[in-house]
Amino acid sequence: MKKITIVGAGRVGEMAAQIIAEKEMCDEIAMIDVREGAAAGAALDIYETTSLSRFDTRLTGGTEPALMSGSELVIITAGSPRKPGMSRSDVLGVNLAILRTILDQVLEFAPQAMLLIVSNPVDALTYHAWKHTGWDRKRIFGLAGVLDSARMSSFVALETGFSGKDITSLVLGGHGDTMVPLTRFTCINGIPITHLLDTPAIERIIERTREGGAEVLGLKQTSSAYNAPGASIAAMVDSISRNRKRILACVCPLEGEYGQHDVAIGVPVVLGRSGIERIVELPLNADEMEMLNRSASQARSENEP
Ligand code: 2OP
Repeated sequence: MKKITIVGAGRVGEMAAQIIAEKEMCDEIAMIDVREGAAAGAALDIYETTSLSRFDTRLTGGTEPALMSGSELVIITAGSPRKPGMSRSDVLGVNLAILRTILDQVLEFAPQAMLLIVSNPVDALTYHAWKHTGWDRKRIFGLAGVLDSARMSSFVALETGFSGKDITSLVLGGHGDTMVPLTRFTCINGIPITHLLDTPAIERIIERTREGGAEVLGLKQTSSAYNAPGASIAAMVDSISRNRKRILACVCPLEGEYGQHDVAIGVPVVLGRSGIERIVELPLNADEMEMLNRSASQARSENEP
């Protein structure tokens, strides 16, 4: 890819930019932040690792929305992070207003771009980005399941002692308390975890996955997580920029898939150069479908703030 813009030069945006630059997923990264100097400083600081991390990705940063001109992908991390004790939904009002301002800038300066929504509550904000732009849903997606699935895999590794390299997890639904960790589709080198872990261990993993963001926020206190979110953004960008067509759990507007309409939640999608190439419908059992329906209802409740 030629150019990616990251709007929001906070820790998540910086972490993502560092990995995207190091792996040369695009020729140029533009970073934009309303705080004077924040994006320019982040871009310069990352570029100063060019000889150390051996990449040629160029980075620019500033406050001007015009910096995003020509971007094929705009990643939106800007917004007010939740504080300890708050839910992601508690920042819907303030972050929806910020999102709408940024979307109008995207419509003006990067009307052909794909949108990756990271700001929370990501399900509702992805839905609003779809409605506000009126774009085809294949180029609007949100970060949730890649992060939640990565967390679940880390907890499986901690419970089993096995290598995280062999663990693939799948978490669908909303990026919050109603997320749907699919233990039937979570494997260690192809072996379902239900063959390797007892029920109490699996329940501990599910609970810790649901609380993954809050656990890190509670420990860090002054910051939400940014290492895992940044790496998760980079994984999605990598699948797009290299046209890998990976099946990843992404927040996606649904128009009938999984029996859902007019809502955006995490589902398995094929992610390639043009964005969402296909939504993969899994044969969920009754319990899984009930959890997904509950998650969709929660997400839909935030579509009309
Ligand atoms: C998280 O789960 C910030 O939503 C992000 O850490």
